[in-house]
Amino acid sequence: MKKRIMVTGGCGYIGSHTAVALIENDFEVLILDDLSNSNKEVLDRIKSITGIRPKLLEVDLKDSFLCDNMFCYNKNIDAVIHFAAHKAVSESIEKPLKYYHNNLYALINVLVAMEKYNINNFIFSSSATVYGNPDELPITEKNKTKRPFSPYGNTKRVAEEVLEDITISNKDLSAISLRYFNPIGAHDSGCLGELPNGIPNNLMPYITQTAVGIRKTLSVFGNDYPTKDGTPIRDYIHVVDLAEAHVIAVQRLLEKKQENAFETFNLGTGNGYSVLEIINAFEKVLNQKVNYTIADRRPGDVPQLYSDTSLAKTKLGWVAKRNLENMIATAWKWEQNYRQEQNLQEN
Ligand code: WQD
Repeated sequence: MKKRIMVTGGCGYIGSHTAVALIENDFEVLILDDLSNSNKEVLDRIKSITGIRPKLLEVDLKDSFLCDNMFCYNKNIDAVIHFAAHKAVSESIEKPLKYYHNNLYALINVLVAMEKYNINNFIFSSSATVYGNPDELPITEKNKTKRPFSPYGNTKRVAEEVLEDITISNKDLSAISLRYFNPIGAHDSGCLGELPNGIPNNLMPYITQTAVGIRKTLSVFGNDYPTKDGTPIRDYIHVVDLAEAHVIAVQRLLEKKQENAFETFNLGTGNGYSVLEIINAFEKVLNQKVNYTIADRRPGDVPQLYSDTSLAKTKLGWVAKRNLENMIATAWKWEQNYRQEQNLQEN
């Protein structure tokens, strides 16, 4: 009997890549998604890679009654991976209540349902943004979390504090929080990748959309930071490396290997690249220029964020395998394939 994993937000960028990795590791995947920032055609993409089209339950998890129904009528869930959340940093600054309402209500409703239906394994999609502007680098899990600059980031930090408290009171519940650095890239097949709604907030999709001609030019948000070339440094990690880490984390809980009821792990590569280095790498890998201009700093950006991932290596046996060139090449292959598909559909 396959273990059944409920993946909330499983039609999203990281969720869909994780669904592929779970299926490839012989798990049964049940996706819950409100499709507010994703599209059910992702299910066909997952099927084209794995041969299996996971079941989708379209649901707004902010609704406690609907959320409970999902668990009531879908028994034998062995673990929940919770991706479902709004994730646009800048939007969260403009509309904080939308983010606290959605991200925290959905989390609490899922956790309440898990307790009611006795599901005791939970993986949380967190973010390096919980470290705020770190005092020291590289960042380890021992770094104090700080109030993030954005309400989006603060929903992640508050969520981790909720998990810490309830795994103390509920002796049966185990939770792992995975703190992503900067996920980029796409599945090798070129038929699954990031599909930001509207104007991309994040660097890599903005670069690929500029390179493919959808965006006129990339704005580099500030080149006066205290870094090697003045642009901010981030730890970019391949989304498939990230997906594989989720499979390992689920297996850790199912095999009851966790050492604490609540564990956190940084998921990064340990390498920091500046914005200009990413642009240069893109131009080198693809021999394609990227139009960019230097613009003002973006509120909330921190100068440097990169990880120490030795804890994930020692405890999970996980290390990011894919290099920056592969991240860029797969992101570009996906962008080109997706635009080709769209053109074919329009003509
Ligand atoms: C990276 C660098 C920008 C766009 C956030 C969240 C994190 C995670 C990923 C959501 C920064 C610069 C960007 C552009 C630019 N969550 N940039 N021009 O802000 O590090 O992390 O997104 O998915 O939790 O905090 O990622 O890709 O937005 O920015 O110059 O058009 O690229 O200033 O230095 P970020 P990002």
